[in-house]
Amino acid sequence: MKDKDVILGIETSCDDTSIALVDRNFSVLGMETVSQDSVHKLFGGVIPEIAARNHIAWIIPAIHKVMEKTDVDKKHIKAVAVTTSPGLVGSLLVGTAAAKGLCSGWNIPLISVNHLHGHIYSAFLNEPEIPREPFLSLVVSGGHTSLISVKNNTFRIIGETMDDAAGEAFDKVAKMIGLPYPGGPAIDAVAKKGRLGNYKLPRLLTSPKYRKKTLFSFSGMKTAVKKILSEEENISVSDLMAEFQDKVTELIERKLELAITLNKWNGLVVAGGVSANSVLRKKMQNFSKKHEIPLYMPELKFCGDNGAMIAAAAFKRYDSGSFSSLDCDVSSESLN
Ligand code: KG4
Ligand code: ZN
Repeated sequence: MKDKDVILGIETSCDDTSIALVDRNFSVLGMETVSQDSVHKLFGGVIPEIAARNHIAWIIPAIHKVMEKTDVDKKHIKAVAVTTSPGLVGSLLVGTAAAKGLCSGWNIPLISVNHLHGHIYSAFLNEPEIPREPFLSLVVSGGHTSLISVKNNTFRIIGETMDDAAGEAFDKVAKMIGLPYPGGPAIDAVAKKGRLGNYKLPRLLTSPKYRKKTLFSFSGMKTAVKKILSEEENISVSDLMAEFQDKVTELIERKLELAITLNKWNGLVVAGGVSANSVLRKKMQNFSKKHEIPLYMPELKFCGDNGAMIAAAAFKRYDSGSFSSLDCDVSSESLN
């Protein structure tokens, strides 16, 4: 009956309320995600207090909807997995309180999951196979640009951004140029109509100090776009955004070139909201061919925050019986 095991995943670390049921083959049996984009759009970014309040409003209806829509017998739900770090504390608290309530009501264990580990597992949802360890992962989202080594069941950060996260750069540049929040999809769309070569943006981190380091930095790109906007007239937004997107993804690719030399990796995972970017996806496919390294990227619907990735990431912990206490805490920083 083990193959019928299901974990219910809860993700509320930022502004999406997402609940999912996932089985041990990482098949997503049902998922309900309530996006708050239309609310936060009005402010040009996520307002933490509003995000937390909306989670309170949506989380119980979302749980009910998944349970009603999916043909899963409650007796097969073996654990509840929830993001407890990193993220917005108010938002994390809502998901974690709901998870604790379900666990005590249903008398099943609680498993706390790190949001970044969840993003890595998003690449394995509905996939027939997952890479053998060690494998290299890149999580590119609104809050993170992290290179993570997954080896001996341990996640180790081997590269980080020194300033903005990649998604944050997309969001801030979009705001500067008058595109809606979230900026990533908006820039991706306008850049499709743009041409490269009409604006000069810098190639970042090429100095000897940074050339050989697995570090990222995107704030310089933001400043360069700002300078063009203030100095030039008749700006072609699509050409400028095509250039911006090209340079951001070029830096990501260049740092991956470095990271893949650090070990004999069995695979490369690229996940997180920015992994939905059309140019990045193409570049990663070419990268995988060039370096003969199997590539794992989430389906578009699993790139952003979702409960399914949290449930998938919890199966190993379920099998080893490593459960969380019902008085476990949440944290804005990575805990596990
Ligand atoms: O993973 P995610 O949903 O939330 C965080 O954990 O941060 O990522 C959200 C980020 C936002 O910054 C959004 O602008 C970016 O992912 N994003 C994209 C695209 N779709 C979403 N960035 C670039 N291109 C896209 N197509
Ligand atoms: Zn995320």
